[in-house]
Amino acid sequence: MLSQEQNEALTRVGPATRMGDVFRLFWIPFYPSAQLIPDGQPKRVKLLGEDLVAFRDSAGQPGLMANACPHRGAPLMFARNEECGLRCVYHGWKFDVTGKAMDLPAEPARSRLKDRVRAKAYPCRERNGIIWAYMGPNPENPPSLPQIEWNLVPEENVFVSFRVQECNWLQALEGEIDSAHAPILHGRIDNQGAINEWVAKKDLQPRFKCRNQPFGVSIASCREIDEETRYWRVNQFMLPFWTLVPPQSKFPELSGHAWIPMDDENTLCLMFSYTPTAPLYPRTRTLLEEGHNGRETGHASRDCYAPKPPTTPYADFWTKFTPDNGYQFDYASQRNTWFSGLPGLWVQDAGCQSGVMPIYDRTQENLGTSDAGIVMTRRYLLNMLANYRDRGVCPPGADQPETYMVRAVSMHLPADAAWTEACAPFMRAKLGADFGYTP
Ligand code: FES
Ligand SMILES: [Fe+2]
Repeated sequence: MLSQEQNEALTRVGPATRMGDVFRLFWIPFYPSAQLIPDGQPKRVKLLGEDLVAFRDSAGQPGLMANACPHRGAPLMFARNEECGLRCVYHGWKFDVTGKAMDLPAEPARSRLKDRVRAKAYPCRERNGIIWAYMGPNPENPPSLPQIEWNLVPEENVFVSFRVQECNWLQALEGEIDSAHAPILHGRIDNQGAINEWVAKKDLQPRFKCRNQPFGVSIASCREIDEETRYWRVNQFMLPFWTLVPPQSKFPELSGHAWIPMDDENTLCLMFSYTPTAPLYPRTRTLLEEGHNGRETGHASRDCYAPKPPTTPYADFWTKFTPDNGYQFDYASQRNTWFSGLPGLWVQDAGCQSGVMPIYDRTQENLGTSDAGIVMTRRYLLNMLANYRDRGVCPPGADQPETYMVRAVSMHLPADAAWTEACAPFMRAKLGADFGYTP
């Protein structure tokens, strides 16, 4: 349970909020490269409560700018994207990707206004098919992009999807560091799917061990396989919004999310799945792109989108599973298909994470033993907020890119083995190197 004040501190992300200030210290992946084309239509974006527009100029450079034109506030989402800049359609003022004014056509030629006025623009970088933005206090000299494995391996090794989820970022994050829910929420009663093997084993009570790390928190769950063997799964939380999920024997990919706050009540869910050393099997890629027999996997499938008008932030990434339609909950399917009655993996997560309100009131909850990872992660975040505000300590990782070379692990270990020591060598990501064990 959190106090009202703690809940507010962790969930509010706009400018000059405590968590918002911390998010702004980090690079934020915010758009797939392929969906911003040179001189193409600018796209409405919302990040950390700020109304923005993303575009790619004639030279191929990505830009991220405040949607409000700095002249008199017309939406730059209407702008003409041409000749290396955005030209506002109201009075024709034009800006380049850095926000520099290029042309103020209705101003007299002798006017110096062009030298003074700037559009608010954030530095962008592009790497392996993803565009990142830095919205922080040091735009002239931002830190390096985080060395995060999924965005460094060859593109054929990775699959990335984006979707919008209608709830606060922390609800979504907490859903993924909580592996106690997996065999229950994701259980099938028609005997399919790897997760069902867990249910069959009737081990619904994993033991949790957590450990603070320089990058965030390792959340380990232990299940008993037989007298001599334990199955350890170690999920990672990495600052500020990353989760990493270990491979499963039948799905030998690493995966995870960035739970990127669009505002206090909406989250951009970037999901990645990758293999460190080899291209994804074509079959796997097809499954992630298309879903499984018409049902959603962990990734948003190509067919799940229900695009909104271009005036809506992230218009192309909204889906047909929404709180309004109950995520297409079907009570009848609880009888013969899904334990939950919710159709598909991420839909089950989203349905429960979104809960009954966009920002859950954590003064109302009752935590149990299996919520250990969540408790520890909140404590980590609250400590970080206090350190930053009271002592000016920058959170680890914000300016140390190598902090992110981390993997989640899943290992069978002898009953008496210490998980921290046994797993530690495999939690370090080594580019180009395989897991080093059989998941
Ligand atoms: S409001 Fe954009 S040019 Fe006037
Ligand atoms: Fe889940």
